[in-house]
Amino acid sequence: SKLPMFVDELPDMPRLSGFEVVNGVPVSKSLKIGMFRKKWKFHRDLPPTPVFAYGTSAKAATVPGPTIEAIHGVPVNVTWQNHLPRKHILPWDPTIPTAMTMVKTGIPAVVHLHGAIDEPESDGNAYAWFTPKFKERGSTWTKKTYHYSNAQHPGNLWYHDHAMGLTRVNLLAGLIGSYIIRHPAVEEPFRLPHGNQYDRPLVVFDRAFRRDGSLYMNSTGNNPSIHPQWQPEYFGDAIIVNGKAWPRMVVRRRKYRFRILNASNARFFRFYFTNGLKFIHVGSDSTYNQHPVTVNKLLVAPSEIADVVVDFSGSKSNSVVLANDAEYPYPSGDPVNKINSRVMKFLITRKKELDTSRVPAKLVHYPSPDASSASQTRFITMYEYTTKSDEPTHLNLNGKSPDDPVTEQPKVGTSEIWYVINLTDDNHPLHIHLGLFSVLDQTELIKLDEFKECMMKLKDATKCHVDKYARGRNTAVVAHEKGWKNVYKMLPGYVTKILVRFSYVHTNASYPFDATSEPGYVYHCHILDHEDNVMMRPLKLVN
Ligand code: C2O
Ligand code: CU
Repeated sequence: SKLPMFVDELPDMPRLSGFEVVNGVPVSKSLKIGMFRKKWKFHRDLPPTPVFAYGTSAKAATVPGPTIEAIHGVPVNVTWQNHLPRKHILPWDPTIPTAMTMVKTGIPAVVHLHGAIDEPESDGNAYAWFTPKFKERGSTWTKKTYHYSNAQHPGNLWYHDHAMGLTRVNLLAGLIGSYIIRHPAVEEPFRLPHGNQYDRPLVVFDRAFRRDGSLYMNSTGNNPSIHPQWQPEYFGDAIIVNGKAWPRMVVRRRKYRFRILNASNARFFRFYFTNGLKFIHVGSDSTYNQHPVTVNKLLVAPSEIADVVVDFSGSKSNSVVLANDAEYPYPSGDPVNKINSRVMKFLITRKKELDTSRVPAKLVHYPSPDASSASQTRFITMYEYTTKSDEPTHLNLNGKSPDDPVTEQPKVGTSEIWYVINLTDDNHPLHIHLGLFSVLDQTELIKLDEFKECMMKLKDATKCHVDKYARGRNTAVVAHEKGWKNVYKMLPGYVTKILVRFSYVHTNASYPFDATSEPGYVYHCHILDHEDNVMMRPLKLVN
């Protein structure tokens, strides 16, 4: 495809308020949000693309969906309504565990609010899927209306589909949206750039299109005799921001805040500005930094969020391209090319402006991770299985599938140390529902082949003496990623030590959920093609 770049204006997705203001006070609100099949224009010169989109009506639905804006302490109730057709717009694979083979009445879907600290009934577990009018429902489905307490720290969340074995195709089709929790008392004194003009979510993902505008996803797997359709990673050459391919945005010569979400299936982005402009990193996918950190490059894995301030008043040129130089698959795949290395363009007004926003030296101080408080230690090992010719067939965690009985049952309010052992060649973004974690260190495994051989056989890090092998290089966690996260990049051939909290970080809230109830949560790789086949495990909290 030879689509010209930087011809479409960057859209701002519709904002959907999660609260009402009554007598000057924000109060709880109930929303109905549907999932619709419709057509979406990704580029001026591309015919409209059939997509699945979230919205308050078919007409209002967008890709990504509306940005839901919530206020800390004011709950939002959302009834997610499935209006999807019977036939998927993308190829899916009946040989991986998928809800699609269990239904007759339409495409199964379920919404997960990524980063939320809420009751399990509203978590959007992969088996809580439902078809149109809730006619058919998965084994962990409990209710129609989800309750989001918004009792957690302010920050950047996102909602997306999570149906068993369909996550990669349902997100690829467009079921993605931003969700912001604001905490005025905490955030207003910061005076970061604010308001819809200067505080903008940027939802970035890659896609491939056919000439007729339809989304292209291969319909033949890399091992078709095992999995007729599944491929280990989806990549597209067109880079989409807020639903437009390589858009442009006219900005003023002042500071902007961008909440950058990587919503790709498998592509990592290492963002940089072509004229040397810098990112001032103020928050991650879960929380604010303690202090802002200025960086030239930002490595953002699928489902990670970088909350940054960019000061265009420091730009020497009047336009600048936001670019990407991350290999795909990351880190040992192909280098970027002329097409997929470009993200979007900013056109900067000449005149400098009065800008009363600032970036304070101190942001939010959360309790620091205290490894000695951990009540449990666990080993979580990432495996990739291949054919003799080295073609991936599937991946998993701890040699188990999502359907095997739950093995991770943390106690409410405790912390645990997880050693995540990555035996594969790829970097996997590990995401833990409900959990908040801090990355303590990353240590390379020595004599990897020997250790791997033992692990493939015994599936037991203790019996294979992981401590004898975890003695290689230590890779420091970069300053801006030292805070609390809900997803992080697990280096290949390394053990990553994380401290996970299954409790609140923000102090002035009560814990809202009934921890004894079914269903539970999950943790998984956020490369969607891995998650679907079958790099996901259940997680259940106990009292
Ligand atoms: Cu963003 Cu379990 O997902
Ligand atoms: Cu993975």
